[in-house]
Amino acid sequence: MSGKGIHIEGLKKRYGEGDTAVHALRGVDMQIAPGEVVGLIGPSGSGKSTLLKCLGAVIDPTAGRMVLGDEVIFDNDWKVRDLRALRRDKIGFVFQAPYLIPFLDVTDNVALLPMLAGIPNSNARAKALELLTALDVQHRARAMPSQLSGGEQQRVAIARGLVNRPPVILADEPTAPLDSERAMAVIRILNDMARQFETAIIVVTHDEKIIPTFKRIYHIRDGVAHEEVGEGRGFE
Ligand SMILES: Nc1ncnc2c1ncn2[C@@H]1O[C@H](COP(=O)(O)OP(=O)(O)OP(=O)(O)O)[C@@H](O)[C@H]1O
Ligand SMILES: [Mg+2]
Repeated sequence: MSGKGIHIEGLKKRYGEGDTAVHALRGVDMQIAPGEVVGLIGPSGSGKSTLLKCLGAVIDPTAGRMVLGDEVIFDNDWKVRDLRALRRDKIGFVFQAPYLIPFLDVTDNVALLPMLAGIPNSNARAKALELLTALDVQHRARAMPSQLSGGEQQRVAIARGLVNRPPVILADEPTAPLDSERAMAVIRILNDMARQFETAIIVVTHDEKIIPTFKRIYHIRDGVAHEEVGEGRGFE
């Protein structure tokens, strides 16, 4: 394959040492092309979040190799000096829990990353509002996170994960608190992002409504990822 998208080879992650060690990943191989949205499924405790955290440089893998775009980021050790810059510039995270900043309003929660990247505040806010509109939460743009419903908070967190147009998006149960119409809207936006910006996207999900939308699915079992052909019905 070409040097684009996401490549994972023989990825292992062990938590702890000795008798109590947990072998969460035992040699995971995955390839996600630019512009592709793949589903990641598997039982609770199978290692889905662990895999996303390794790829997102949130935790240290034990062994293996990870390539993002044409950059080898891990080869039995980190190959990137500045992991914070890697996380900020290359990876969009959408987590299970929204983790919004409580003292910033909705717009600034989304605009913060582009502002930190040096984009003028008014442009950053305009980008934020564009995504908030696409996610149908623009009417809450000036509200504080504590004033939002769980589903609204999640949509704001999704906007924040997408706003910098990262080449890789890692989404852990992004649609869990949403009704089916809004869950589909989120999947549609992720697919649009992937197509428009050549983003490689991994979506961890248990959501029966969205699983049929994927063309390709990785199923984690016993610490190994098995590739499956999805129904790929799309998202209309
Ligand atoms: N910080 C940690 N220390 C020790 N063990 C951990 C740690 N984090 C996760 N584990 C263990 O690693 C395994 C994989 O956990 P992980 O959170 O990746 O599962 P998951 O597939 O995301 O599950 P779920 O669907 O419930 O979110 C589990 O056995 C879990 O208990
Ligand atoms: Mg998890």
